[in-house]
Amino acid sequence: MSARPTASAPPAKGKPVTLSALAEKKALGEPIAMVTAYDFPSAQVAEEAGVDVVLVGDSGAMTVLGYPSTVPVSVEEMLMLSAAVRRGLQTPMLVGDLPFGSYEVSDQQAVATAQRFVKEAGCDAVKLERGGTSVARATAIVGAGIPVMGHVGLTPQTATALGGYRSQGRTAERALEVAHDALALQEAGCFAIVFEAIPSDLTAELMPRLEIPVIGIGAGPDTDGQVLVFHDLLGIYDGHAARFVKRYADVRKSMVEGVAAYAEDVRARRYPEPRHGYTMAPDERERLRELLRARIPSTPATFLPPA
Ligand code: KIV
Repeated sequence: MSARPTASAPPAKGKPVTLSALAEKKALGEPIAMVTAYDFPSAQVAEEAGVDVVLVGDSGAMTVLGYPSTVPVSVEEMLMLSAAVRRGLQTPMLVGDLPFGSYEVSDQQAVATAQRFVKEAGCDAVKLERGGTSVARATAIVGAGIPVMGHVGLTPQTATALGGYRSQGRTAERALEVAHDALALQEAGCFAIVFEAIPSDLTAELMPRLEIPVIGIGAGPDTDGQVLVFHDLLGIYDGHAARFVKRYADVRKSMVEGVAAYAEDVRARRYPEPRHGYTMAPDERERLRELLRARIPSTPATFLPPA
């Protein structure tokens, strides 16, 4: 993005961002802003902040579901998160991440899973990881009429096979593999592609070869847009942050401080104050006392703790 002069404006509120709007942004050199979201409030924040694309990333496995990696998250869990995000979103394009094991086995499996994200969760598009066999899956899903976003470089679903959570494509040979994967996904009909954790030099070499929008995360400044994980950029998540993460807020600190102050108030009987409560009109209170005297004269034995 650094070489391009044009800045971009947020999308017009309530006018859903389309595939052609993203393609146009690329053509005009206007950066695309993408962020992840996993629930109704984070979707509302993304909407109000005016991003172009929201990804319900399988990173939600770690950030909101507490799994140690993205691998264990199920289709059902991803659908629940995606549907919640859908309810909070009107303008940005909504992309659902196909979780590990939900698309690799066959084209049929890939199409069936992608259809669930569109039908049950209201996603506009889906994302899948890797080149290789994922290229055929992308072709099949696109053929079924569902827009697909590709993802190359560091692909967390197969991080073990890649040697861990480390940047990819740092030798010329490995970089060429990343290039082949990216071009194959473009050829498969993907409308956009994520470059994750690859050298900025590799991105710079590949950009002139890609016609579809490229969204970077740890891929340098030359991509058509950037994506960051919601919890990373806002400082909500307490785990390890990758080098490419820029923290724009320390929300976790504020949350801990808020909850600790509440707990302290409760323990010190400072909360609730009279203004937090509801009142009865004095005559209703008096009537209640009469009713209680008549109908519940004393504490029933069953309410007493066992001797
Ligand atoms: O799951 C995710 O959040 C992602 C982004 C990092 C692109 O795949």
